[in-house]
Parts: sequence; structure tokens; C-alpha cells
Amino acid sequence: MIKTERLTLRPWHDNDADALFKYAQDPDIGTPAGWPAHESPKESLDVIRSVFSAPETYAVVPDEAGEAVGCVGVVPPHIRHIQEPQTHDTAHETEIGYWIGKPYWGRGFIPEAVDALIAHLHNNLHINTFWIALFDGNDKSRRVAEKCGFVYHHTETDVAGTEHFYIKIIPH
Ligand SMILES: CC(C)(COP(=O)(O)OP(=O)(O)OC[C@H]1O[C@@H](n2cnc3c(N)ncnc32)[C@H](O)[C@@H]1OP(=O)(O)O)[C@@H](O)C(=O)NCCC(=O)NCCS
Repeated sequence: MIKTERLTLRPWHDNDADALFKYAQDPDIGTPAGWPAHESPKESLDVIRSVFSAPETYAVVPDEAGEAVGCVGVVPPHIRHIQEPQTHDTAHETEIGYWIGKPYWGRGFIPEAVDALIAHLHNNLHINTFWIALFDGNDKSRRVAEKCGFVYHHTETDVAGTEHFYIKIIPH
């Protein structure tokens, strides 16, 4: 568990399924992140068990909300957007992803969560190179990257579309 000024980042539980469905049924959440809107609480439960159970994947729980309203974490290897090792130091390199329910947009919650996640991954798992992948036009996510100290690195275009990759390196 990671505590920040306004948030708790903690593992997902089965009983988060209804809260997850509440926010993830909105296509404006999943589409920019590359996944379809959830169609039922059962689908949300399946996602909690099959995707959000991965290591270093956290529910974002604002103190004021008292429920899981978003997600931040390391993107699991099989759904990573960054295709090839970029830094020759892959043991210490990772990609992070995030989203938050629309009622909570614009409060700086995800930058706060990303900063805390990076500090944890750096201090406890010795990761020093972080990637964010965002689709062309996702200015909201680009702002998160910029606020968290990431800089533009390169662009890739494939069947999924055009993606811009941002990087943050914490010196050893
Ligand atoms: C991208 C996202 C995680 C940002 O989280 P957040 O906690 O709202 O981040 P911030 O509060 O720092 O806001 C980031 C930018 O979003 C935009 N924004 C904020 N509130 C908004 C709103 N209600 N409507 C539209 N855009 C808004 C602003 O441009 C803001 O940048 P600014 O602070 O320089 O004005 C969130 O918008 C989201 O979940 N989007 C859908 C999923 C997604 O795109 N995930 C990332 C995939 S790479």
C-alpha cells in the first residue's frame, strides 16, 4: 500500500467490481488507454482477477471518495506498448499506465499517484527508467507525463495507431 497526501494506492479486490464498473463503463476512460468500455460488473470482476491482479498494479482511492476510482501501475509485459528494450538496461526499465474516473478528472490525482508509484519503484525495486505511451491526441495524458517530469522520446505507428513515448530517467 502507498499513501500520498490525498490518496491511497492499494491492490484491487473482488469487491471493487461495482466501483470499477461505475467508471470503466464510460468509453472515454478505456478508449484512450486502449481497452473497450466494460459492459457489466461481471466483466469488471474478470478484469480485476485477470489484469489488475498483476504485480505493482494499484487501485487509486482518494480519501474523499473511499472507493477505487482509478488505476495506476506497471503495465504487464504482455500488454506493454513499448516494443523493444530501449535503454540496454531492461531489468531497471518499466512502462507505467493509468486512468481515473471522469468525475475525478482535473484534480491532479493521477500526477500525485504517478509520482508516488515512481518513488516506490525506484526506492524499493531499483527501477530508474520509466516509460509512458500515449496515443496521438491524448493531451490529458501528455499533461500527466509532463507534470511528472517525463520528456518526449519517440513516436511509433502501427495497427493500433500512432503512439508517442515519453521517458523519465532517475540517475543512479
Ligand atoms: C489522463 C488522465 C489519467 C489524467 O488524470 P487527472 O488526474 O485528471 O490529471 P490532471 O488533473 O493532471 O489533468 C491532466 C489534464 O487533463 C485535462 N483535463 C482536466 N480536467 C478535464 C476535464 N474535466 N475535461 C477534459 N480535460 C480535462 C487538462 O488538460 C489537464 O491538464 P492541466 O492541468 O494542464 O490543465 C485522465 O484524464 C484519464 O483517465 N483519461 C482517460 C484514460 C487515459 O487517457 N489514460 C492514459 C492513457 S496513456
